[in-house]
Order: sequence, then structure tokens, then C-alpha cells
Amino acid sequence: MHAFAYKNGSLYCENVKLEDIAKAVGTPVFVYSKKTIADDLAEFRQAMAPLDTHIAYAVKACSNKAILNLMAREGLGFDIVSGGELWRVINAGGDPARCTYAGVAKTEPEIRYALQQGIYCFNCESENELREINRIAGEMGLIAPVAVRVNPHVDAHTHKYITTGTNENKFGIDISRIEEVYATIAAEMPHLRIKGLQMHIGSQLTDIKPFVMAVEKVAPIVRKFKELYQIEFWSIGGGIGIIYDGCLASGQEEWWTAHPEQITITGYAEALIPLLQPLGLKILLEPGRRLVGNAAAMLTTCVYEKKGEAKTFKMIDAGMNDIIRPALYEGYHEIWPVREHCGDTIVADIVGPICESGDFQALNRTMADVKPGEILAEMSAGAYGFSMASTYNSRPLAAEVLVDGDKWSIIRRRQTMEEMVSGECLPE
Ligand code: LLP
Repeated sequence: MHAFAYKNGSLYCENVKLEDIAKAVGTPVFVYSKKTIADDLAEFRQAMAPLDTHIAYAVKACSNKAILNLMAREGLGFDIVSGGELWRVINAGGDPARCTYAGVAKTEPEIRYALQQGIYCFNCESENELREINRIAGEMGLIAPVAVRVNPHVDAHTHKYITTGTNENKFGIDISRIEEVYATIAAEMPHLRIKGLQMHIGSQLTDIKPFVMAVEKVAPIVRKFKELYQIEFWSIGGGIGIIYDGCLASGQEEWWTAHPEQITITGYAEALIPLLQPLGLKILLEPGRRLVGNAAAMLTTCVYEKKGEAKTFKMIDAGMNDIIRPALYEGYHEIWPVREHCGDTIVADIVGPICESGDFQALNRTMADVKPGEILAEMSAGAYGFSMASTYNSRPLAAEVLVDGDKWSIIRRRQTMEEMVSGECLPE
């Protein structure tokens, strides 16, 4: 359950009126609900409780220091994909010994940094990467903990840019070769210690079946590796989808009833626990979106309206630089006025200020006929929202706010122009 709802005609996050935040901080601003994150995490933990789990929050979903600090205080580990993410985790109070490091192109400085910090495990994606980590660890006089990401060849039926588990993408090592690769590590790479096995088949999965298929397919290999290499964990990745469409319109309870096929945490746990428990291993989970996705809304102001021949446009002060999901993945986000409208609706495109036709947040959307000056809330903006933002078109990065009950705090100041160009200089 998320904590965004209309009360007496105004949209609230927990007990704070969103309009008040927009007035104080300006727009665009991302507003996160601490309660939603805590509730979603508690639900996840409770559902997976029968297993020996280690939850590694996928930092890429939302990497604000305050959010990472919250996760660290909850005792979570972190799934990182760069030296920068490791630095952020440490800077936010997270424990490097609880970090797993994924990614297909780790560089030598990144590998050295991760080894120095004593991370839990490298999740490796190719034989050449394994050889490189082996070489660097040897030079540093260390043994590097490794797992390999197996590509199980299961189609996650999600958007083509966020599916990862088929043999047509760059991730992991094909399931047909994984045993040979582990044998090579054991035989030829003395500075590596095989610690586990990893997989991740895609993101925003709304159906349980691909998860079940992947776990069933890989479980026999996990059993074998436990025997042969005494692996201590199996990471089944992240990927659990969230509700983007309908959560505020109908209320979540009604939405679940109307979408029986949508994955739930309980459904995920009930389907997977019986398959995982008999393995007797630590199960690593790498949720990103599921922990933060529904926990934020981005507030934006309607600046102009334009009625064209064929369409009506509502121009807003947030662009694809602030949230790129609609442009990049045809992502759908609900967009609601912070002051409830009861009158007529219209069909409009909600578009941003950027000089690109792809700069839209919604197309042909049936929506309240908001007027310039009114504030809108783009929902479910917590995951891959701010973390994918850029300063394209020289638009300073938005602000971020964390709500806790009836209090709110700025967790990122709006970027200034000076900060935006800091680091740029004229040639000597
Ligand atoms: N583990 C690995 C190895 C991953 O690559 C990812 C996400 C996760 C865990 C976390 O997945 P989640 O639980 O958040 O689905 N920008 C895209 C999503 C990219 C996901 C990348 N990998 C979007 O906005 O939909």
C-alpha cells in the first residue's frame, strides 16, 4: 500500500499536503514517502521469512543518500553496479561487506576499489571479467569472492530494453556453458573464491511464471554447485513489478481484485519458497523497484495549454530529463492534479519543455482539465525516476523531499546553475 491519497480535495503524501511542498520547494520535485518504503520492505521481509535471505537493495532504482541510509538502517545489503554506487553506499552509512557488485564492464579501478573495501561478492558476467578480477586480486594479494550470472534463457515478457534473461542480450553466461565456466574458475583462477551463483531475468515483471521457470531451470545447477564448490548463496535477482496503472484512480484494493494476474509479494513468495527452501542455501534477493517505485510522486506545474488541430497539449515544467521512463520504455505513470477535480475530463498529451518529440509524460491521456499554474503529481516515480535524471537542455536537477508522517525534509537541494556547470572549464 502506498501513502498517497486525496483527503478533502487535496492530494497528500502521508499527512503532508503535496501542494505545500510544491509551494515551498518549487517544481519539479520528487516526494518520497518513508512509510511506503518501510511498509513495502516489511511486507517483502515477512513474505520471504521462511527462507534464509539476504536482501540487497538495487541501488540504481533510487540512489539518494537519505534513501540509502534508510535502507542501511533497516539492515539491508546493496546490489551495486559501479564504483560510484559503492562509494554512495559507504557515504550513506551502508556496509561494503553486504554489497554484491554486478555489471558487464567493471573497470580495473572499480575492481580494485571494491576489493579494497571488502565487498561481499562480485557477480561476474563473462570469462574475461573473471580472469581480470583473478589477475587484480593476485596482484593485491587477495582472494576475490565471486559468483557468475547465469543467463537461463527465459523470456520475462517485459519491455525489450529491460528484459535480460534471453540469449540475445549481453548479460551473464549462457546456461549451457555455466558448468564449464565454474570448472575453469576452480582449475585456473587461484585468486578467486566461488561463493555463489546469480541470475536476474528482467525488470517490471508482472507475471510470476517466468520467475518460476527460471528458478526451476537453474535449481539443479545450484544443487550441483553446492556439492562441487560449496557455494553459500544463490541470488535470484530482482524484477518484481509494481502497479503503475490504476493505483490512485480506483484505490489499491479494487485494483488488485481487477488484476488477478498481477504479481504480488505473497504470490511471489508462495510460488518460489517451496522451490528454494529445499536447497538449504542463503537466497539473495535484489529488489529495486518493488521497494521504492510506488513510494514517490514527482510534482510538476502545468505551464501552458495549447489546443492544436488534432490534439490538446498540457505543457509542464518537467521533462524527459527529469523522468525518462515514458520516452525510453513507453512507461506509463498516472498523473493527477494535487487539487482534486470533479468536473469534466479531456484527452490531452502531457508534454515537457525539451526540444524533442519524445519529450512527453503521457499521450492521449484522459485527465482533469487542469489550467496553467496548477500542480500535477506524476505517480510511481520512486524507481528509475530521479536516478535516471540528467541536465539535458541545461535543466538543473530537480529537488527531492522525504515525507515522514506530518514532517518533510529536503533530501536533495535543487541544483543551482553554478553546480550544473561546475567542473566545466575553458581550455588553457
Ligand atoms: N539485479 C540486477 C542484476 C539488475 O540488473 C536489476 C535492474 C535489479 C536487480 C533490480 O531490478 P528491479 O527489482 O528494480 O526490477 N530503468 C528501467 C529498469 C532497469 C532495470 C535494470 N536492472 C525502468 O525504468 O524500467
